[in-house]
Parts: sequence; C-alpha cells; structure tokens
Amino acid sequence: MLDAIAAIAAGLEPSRTDDPTHAAELVAGVGACILTGLEPSQSSAATLAATLLGDRLRAGPPPVEVREGGDKDPKIRVDGAHEVPLPLHTDGFTYGLDGPDTMVLLCERPSEGDGASTVVDAYRVLDALAADPGGAELVRFMCDVEVDLTAPGAPPRRGTLVSTTPSGRRQVIVVALRDHIRAVPGPLARAHEHCIDQVAEVFESVRTWAPRVHLAAGEALCADNYRVVHSRDAYHDLDRRFWRIWAWSDDGRPPPEGRLASDVRYVTEDPAAAGG
Ligand SMILES: [Fe+2]
Repeated sequence: MLDAIAAIAAGLEPSRTDDPTHAAELVAGVGACILTGLEPSQSSAATLAATLLGDRLRAGPPPVEVREGGDKDPKIRVDGAHEVPLPLHTDGFTYGLDGPDTMVLLCERPSEGDGASTVVDAYRVLDALAADPGGAELVRFMCDVEVDLTAPGAPPRRGTLVSTTPSGRRQVIVVALRDHIRAVPGPLARAHEHCIDQVAEVFESVRTWAPRVHLAAGEALCADNYRVVHSRDAYHDLDRRFWRIWAWSDDGRPPPEGRLASDVRYVTEDPAAAGG
C-alpha cells in the first residue's frame, strides 16, 4: 500500500518565477514555488514575507538562520544532524494549530551536490490514502482523532492532524519529531499511537519517492505550510546557509498571542519573557 500511495502522491517540482505576485499565485494554487533573483542575505530574507504576501501579511517575525533544526530549535538529532535526512514535516508544529500558514526558505549558500529539498503536496497524499481502504482509515484518524501536540517544554496543545480553518482551508500537520506527538491518554491510546506511527511511515515512504529540489543562492522556496510538507536530504557542507521565514496571512488562523519567531523560542521560553 505505502509504495503505491507514495507513487500516486509523488512530490511537487515547484515552478520558478522572479515575480513575487506570480509566486503568491503559485503558492495559493499549487502549494509551492521557487522565487528567484533574490539577494542571498539576512536582510533580503527579512523582507520576503511582505514581498510575498503584501497587505495580506498579519504577522511576519524576523528570519532565522537554519542550522540543525533552527536557531533556537531543539536539535533534530544531537550530533551529525546534517548527515541524515530530515523527515517530511510542516513547520511551526510547536505552535499547534496556530502555526504559520506560510513558510519561506531562502538559500544563501547551498551545500553543493547534496542537501536537496523535497516538497510534497500533503493534500495529494491524503487523497491517495483516501482511495485505499486501509489508507482511508488512516485519513479518518488524521481528521477525527485529537492528538497531543505538546512539544517538550512548551504549553499544552491538542488538535487533529487534519483540520479546517474558519476560512475553509484544510490544514495538515506533520511533525518531524516523534516525541512532539502522542496519543491522548484513554482506552484507545495504544491504537492511536499505532496510527501516529503509520502516518510517519506513509510520509517517509513518500519522501523516498519524491523528486529532489536543489535551491541555488538567491532562490527561496515559498510554501503553503497548511498544505505542503518539506524535508531536506543529508549534506556535507557545514557552511550551508539558509534563512527561514514563518508568516501568518489574513487567510490563516490568527497569529498566536505574544512575541513570535520563525522558530520555537517564544513557544518554549518563559511566557513572561516573551510578552514584549
Ligand atoms: Fe522545515
């Protein structure tokens, strides 16, 4: 089942454009694109949310340099994180359902020959799953069963992995870290833990099938973070440098209270320190 689903749901190969207006249309229409011709720098990254969303931008915290999991993010794996691929995921899952609906990743310096990104339309994965009897059951789990999305050290968060926003958008959450998701305690907890493992297995299978996307310096992956999951392959060059920007548009869920960031720092730090 998994390979068949993965083949049907094979990843996006995002179109390139140097026109921000067209980029926004592509993100809205197919979920992702690559915006080209950008200055490969932090200051350039700082303007990208506004460039892409214009007056639709409701919150756009400063860019964060992407290292092994982000500036202040927990390490995906303690050592040698760059030597293994990241699983497919949506960004900002530590915000729970209140995560950013837009994710931009600007390449300042690629790792030549490796470190490619994978971009997958999670809606297509869900549709492919729904067409398979076993898969349909998994989709029902993702849509109907509330799970515990509390990240270590963060405030409690619960929600379903697939939900619908007030404006009617379908929001998919796929976490990169298994310890950021667990079944809600109860008689079905064990079965739900199994479903959580199956979801991870499906997306890992999809990741292995999906085409690779190599971003060059001055190119930015722009994605609908409710719809598109992404990952990156292992890389060798520790000077690889990307900037990540999370943004909340006027068509997503409202930005969470408090000071925001393009990583988890204001979710996991003392709320009193985050109020400024
Ligand atoms: Fe990410």
